[in-house]
Amino acid sequence: MNYPQIIKKEHESFIKFIYASVMVKEADVRHKLNDIALFKYRHMVWIMQDAVNNNVKFNMDFDEKEIAKIKVETEDELIEVLKEDLNQNIAIYEGINNPTINRFRSDDEFFLEELNILDVEGEITSFNENKTLKEIEFDEESKSALVFFLMEETFKEYELITIYSYLKVHSNIAIANSAFTDLAYDSIYHLKRFASLASEMGVLTLPRVIPHDKYENIGVVEFLKENIEEEMDAEKQCLILAEKIGNKYLKDFLLFISRQEVYHGELLQRALNAINNK
Ligand SMILES: [Fe+2]
Ligand SMILES: [Fe+2]
Repeated sequence: MNYPQIIKKEHESFIKFIYASVMVKEADVRHKLNDIALFKYRHMVWIMQDAVNNNVKFNMDFDEKEIAKIKVETEDELIEVLKEDLNQNIAIYEGINNPTINRFRSDDEFFLEELNILDVEGEITSFNENKTLKEIEFDEESKSALVFFLMEETFKEYELITIYSYLKVHSNIAIANSAFTDLAYDSIYHLKRFASLASEMGVLTLPRVIPHDKYENIGVVEFLKENIEEEMDAEKQCLILAEKIGNKYLKDFLLFISRQEVYHGELLQRALNAINNK
């Protein structure tokens, strides 16, 4: 069985579903797509772990053209793209019979049924650069600061999810593994919230492939030290923007995120201490 091919497929699927979940307008459809995205994330990590256990090398590349398929005009077309994605996934499981793939097949077949009964009819406005948020007024300066922040941070969160997931499956230090898992799920939440704002403002940008040297052959201690810095920087970026934004709701949201970033530094520090104490 071709582990790298299946990992790439689950990875692309996760990206498509998490971005699609912020592109549709109806709350119940957003929830459904987000649930599927989280399962596709788990599929990706489980098959990565199986690959590691079988000594199979892989990377976190994905096909940008494949992801770009979600840039469509209507919600109806978007759901079609997602159905095609699940069908492609199911096709590559063909002839494979093991617990992991059997789980994926069963999940994806059910998700496909769920998508089949969805009734959506909205336009996609995530890329139209309207640069407005409902019920929120901004001056030009805070508006451009927010747009810049959202574009930068959605990309960074995606990058962190990828790197933390890769490190998690390659590390056998329990406390570090647990920190990587928590950090990946917090980053998925941050990505969802930032991408959701970006989508509402019509400035959604899709992720880029991460250079291999960001995750391959890096010592875990060095990585932890660097990422404590990164998390502190994320906190600072949130605080700087919160100062600029006049709106109370957005400001409180950014302060909440910034405090989560502080805790990310703490989780990494605990992992670092555990490794140093060994
Ligand atoms: Fe974050
Ligand atoms: Fe973080």
